[in-house]
Amino acid sequence: MKHSLPGTLKGSLREYRTMNGADLLKRIEGFYDWQNERFQAGFWPYARSTNLGPKAMAAVSDELGRKTDGVNFGSQDYLSLSNHPAIREAAHEAIERYGVHSAGSPAFIGNTTHSVALERKISEFLEMERTVLYPTGFAAGFGAIKGLVRSSDYIVMDNLAHACLQEGASAATKNVFHFRHLQNEGARKWLEQIRAKDTENGILVVTEGLFSMDSDTPDIGGLADLCHEFNATLLVDVAHDLGSLGEDGRGHIGMQEMLGKVDIVMGSFSKTFATNGGFVATRSRAVQQYMRYFSTPTTFSNALSPMAAAVALKAFEIIESREGVDRRASLMRNILSLREKLVAAGLEVYGDPSAIVGVKMGSEALARLVSRQISNMGLVANLVEFPAVPKGQARFRLQVMADHTEEQIIAATTIIKQAYEAGAAELDTIVNPPMRASA
Ligand SMILES: Cc1ncc(COP(=O)(O)O)c(C=O)c1O
Repeated sequence: MKHSLPGTLKGSLREYRTMNGADLLKRIEGFYDWQNERFQAGFWPYARSTNLGPKAMAAVSDELGRKTDGVNFGSQDYLSLSNHPAIREAAHEAIERYGVHSAGSPAFIGNTTHSVALERKISEFLEMERTVLYPTGFAAGFGAIKGLVRSSDYIVMDNLAHACLQEGASAATKNVFHFRHLQNEGARKWLEQIRAKDTENGILVVTEGLFSMDSDTPDIGGLADLCHEFNATLLVDVAHDLGSLGEDGRGHIGMQEMLGKVDIVMGSFSKTFATNGGFVATRSRAVQQYMRYFSTPTTFSNALSPMAAAVALKAFEIIESREGVDRRASLMRNILSLREKLVAAGLEVYGDPSAIVGVKMGSEALARLVSRQISNMGLVANLVEFPAVPKGQARFRLQVMADHTEEQIIAATTIIKQAYEAGAAELDTIVNPPMRASA
């Protein structure tokens, strides 16, 4: 007889998103009970801290102080710039010059010489006219949409677009229509339906240059053509590919020859540019100026710290240099090597080669058992499960860095393979416990 799974191997965050009850604080306790049981059992690999930073080898601790010491494929620092000597020096110089705080919104005097130069650099890099900075990439995605779209307008977006885009869309209008991931024909259908009824209001089409869970990419030119045909505006989030992909680091917009041809490009510094922060690049000064005062996460929030602006600016300098080309080449070598070794070990990987290498586990129960094993075996990697990805498609999202070594890639592959086998055996004994011999 099959046994049912314990609570720690069942359930998802989705069940706790909508709750009933008049007491806002009391009604969330069910989540805590479930989460804490998982946490105590070693099935909650989230909210950990690194002791010495996001390097290729790392020591991380969870909130109970339980440690994993080993190879790190869980940090996002694709070109390994966060510890680069020139980046550290830029940070120190900025602190010497400005102190540590920007002390104001960019709409007042929160900008610095470095942040103004950074805005210019991003515009030039992307062949756009102007740029606005935000304190985080999330704020940029949310703020770009909320800043432009009003309640009578429409949003047509890829159903896997990042949470900052989804939340910006819900906050801006009820008229949000999703098309199937990467299916431009689905976008066309919505655009046709909307324009058949309404030619007065605006439409924003939203996608990503590289999707953060599946590591795949839309036909950006095709979407731009659709926007042209239906009088819509295109926004592309380049958080994961800008700087790290393409010979010149221009990501998929560059590789698809779409530089300067997308209406709004938004991005984050947090994956490749060694700091917090985000941006919205526009094709006109008019749009930039409007965003400065009507995109609330930049208008009503303190500006990026002077140090963050100096770091991102220095990161662009490295990314554009010969060293940047070499770092991207090392990153791609590591990505291809990791993907090849995982497949050779009998594991499945998602999407196209990028710094995001999703390794398929399947069921959430199996993925949680494997995640406990990999932590014990010395691999730091992030578990992603429903609702961040579809039910039954739980996976580890490995994030590759330029400075990972071949030995570290081999170690990660060996650990995942062994942990997968151990987790699968453990799951089998839970579901089909061995029969007890009768006395
Ligand atoms: C596609 C995408 N957009 C935006 C963001 C937000 O970036 P940040 O970490 O700078 O807030 C992320 C990061 O999680 C992302 O994956």
